[in-house]
Amino acid sequence: MLKHIQTEIDRLKKTSALRKLVTQEGLDFSSNDYLGLSRNPSIQDKLASQLSEPISLGSTGSRLISGHSKLYEATEAFIADTFKCEAALIFGSGYLANSGIISALADSETSIFSDELNHASLIDGIRLSGAKREIFKHNDLEHLKALLQSSKQQRKLIVTEAVFSMDGDLAPVDELIELSQDFNALLLLDEAHSTGVFGHQGRGRLKNHPENVITVHTCGKALGGYGAFACLSEMLKIFLINRSRPFIYSTSLPPLLIMQIRFCIEEMVAHPELQSDLHRSMHIFGNLLNRTLTSPIVPILIPGNESVLHASEHLKKNGFFVRGIRSPTVALGQERLRVTIKSTHQPDELRAFAAALTEIL
Ligand SMILES: Cc1ncc(COP(=O)(O)O)c(C=O)c1O
Repeated sequence: MLKHIQTEIDRLKKTSALRKLVTQEGLDFSSNDYLGLSRNPSIQDKLASQLSEPISLGSTGSRLISGHSKLYEATEAFIADTFKCEAALIFGSGYLANSGIISALADSETSIFSDELNHASLIDGIRLSGAKREIFKHNDLEHLKALLQSSKQQRKLIVTEAVFSMDGDLAPVDELIELSQDFNALLLLDEAHSTGVFGHQGRGRLKNHPENVITVHTCGKALGGYGAFACLSEMLKIFLINRSRPFIYSTSLPPLLIMQIRFCIEEMVAHPELQSDLHRSMHIFGNLLNRTLTSPIVPILIPGNESVLHASEHLKKNGFFVRGIRSPTVALGQERLRVTIKSTHQPDELRAFAAALTEIL
């Protein structure tokens, strides 16, 4: 067994695919902290003041045993009110929410229709569910419709990202809702990269919440913290509390993190200029690259694992932190620098970074 593991590591090394942990150095063009909330002083102050009260540092159990509290109740009610949905359910992380929701909703009697570029957390949920998997071409509504039409399964679930994590492009949300309703399907919309980035008060790309739609919002990206929540109907919430294994069988997030989630959402809602600053940065950077950016995620294709690693190293030497995304995380030949733009980037920083990028392209 150990010999096999060593052989695998050697194979990864040979194809420049061995992943290593690196600490952040240089100006950040890589994180998902789109609004800079991870370092927001007002949120830090609010959290610090909570520590002057005697509070439990751990949640002490899963939500169904001892890990539920008035704080959870109030925070989920606050989220539902802010995101204009019937109910909200907090999960340990976006990965746990996606994998735990899909695997609870679908079974071998269900067909899941999944965009070919969906995130691993969605794919793993589909695998865990044992459902029939129908992959549709990226954002291709005609293909999705054809698959829905030919499906013999009564139960159908469509799964997609609102903003795609590696390409930064947008799913046709309104049309997907229409199709899901035409075919009596549920739609799971992963708003990981749209929460805080799009929509009134940063609610994401869904405008209003039909009962057949579940949105998943991660708190570790634009919200600058950790955790996730789903926005959904009361009925689906009750079902997931009873059936979602990561929800049932894992210690719930500690109180301080729940407070942080609330403070981050409050900050986002109270300061719409954070979102407009982000869009201003995107506009400036798009002009510098002669591209129209659809989101703060800007893929810069540099095919080949070795080439993309070199590009990332070169930028690091020039003071910029950008990670290369290699195969197999993206398809062979689709290796890229995954550049992310933030509200806190200043025009001169964007200009300097664009100049450094142009040198290597
Ligand atoms: C599209 C998408 N969904 C879900 C996740 C998982 O979210 P979390 O980091 O909160 O587990 C990510 C993060 O990598 C993501 O990019």
